[in-house]
Amino acid sequence: MKSRKPLVAGNWKMNGDVVANEHLFTTLRSALERTSTSRIDIVVCPPFPYLGQAIAWLSDTGIAVGGQNVAAADQGAFTGEVSAGMLADLGCRWAIVGHSERRTLFGETDEVVAAKTHTALAQGIGVIVCVGESLEERERGLTEAVLARQVDAFAAALAGPGRERVVVAYEPVWAIGTGRSASNDMAQQAHRFIRDRLALQDSEAAEQVRILYGGSVKPSNAIGLFSMPDIDGGLIGGASLVADDFLNICRAAAAA
Ligand code: PGA
Repeated sequence: MKSRKPLVAGNWKMNGDVVANEHLFTTLRSALERTSTSRIDIVVCPPFPYLGQAIAWLSDTGIAVGGQNVAAADQGAFTGEVSAGMLADLGCRWAIVGHSERRTLFGETDEVVAAKTHTALAQGIGVIVCVGESLEERERGLTEAVLARQVDAFAAALAGPGRERVVVAYEPVWAIGTGRSASNDMAQQAHRFIRDRLALQDSEAAEQVRILYGGSVKPSNAIGLFSMPDIDGGLIGGASLVADDFLNICRAAAAA
C-alpha cells in the first residue's frame, strides 16, 4: 500500500448538459452510497456553467468539484476568465492547470501555467498541474527534457504555502483521447522522472506529491497503471463521462 492517498479526477472537457449531468450525478451518488470511497479522493471537473449543479448534487457525497481551468490573475478586466477566488467561493476545491489542450490550443506557456498554479494555491484551491510530451517529442528522444522544463516552471510551488494541495498529472499528449495509453512501465518511468525532478526543489515534498496518470485510462487498464509505485491515481477524460466506467476506475484506484 502506498503512503500517498490515490486521487481520481474526471475531466469532462467541453461536454455535458443539465439533463445528462443529472443522470451522471444520480448514478455516482447511488453507487457511492453502496461503496466506501474514503480510501481515495475523487474530483469531478465539469465545464464552468455546471459547477454549481455539480456542487449541489455532490457536496454531501465526499466527491469534490473542480474547474478545468483558472485565471492567473486574481480579479479585474479579464473578459471570459474565472478566478480561483470565484471557484473557492462556489465551493470548488480544485482546478486543473496547464492541460495539454490549454497549452496547444490556447497558447498557455510554462510561465502562464506557473502563474495560475501560484494564484490558485494562494486562494486556497488545489491544483492538478498537467505535463506531458507530444508524440514528436517522444520520438525525438525529448521526453525527459520536455518534462523537466514543464516541471521546473512550477516546482517552486512545492516549497511554498499550500504545497500539500499540489497534484501533478502526467499526460502524454499522444495518449489523450486516442485510446492508446502509455504502457505501465513507460508511465512509471515518466512518473519517477517527474518525482525525481521535483525532489531537486524539495525532496520530502516530492515523495508526498501525488502524480496522476492521464491519457486513455479505462477500467481495463486502470489497475495496472495505478499499481505502479509512482502512479497515484488518474486524470480521466472520456471515461469520466460514463458513470460505470468512472466508478470502476475509482474502484481500481482504491484497490491498487
Ligand atoms: P482521455 O483524456 O482520458 O479521454 O484520454 C484525458 C485528459 O485529457 O485529461
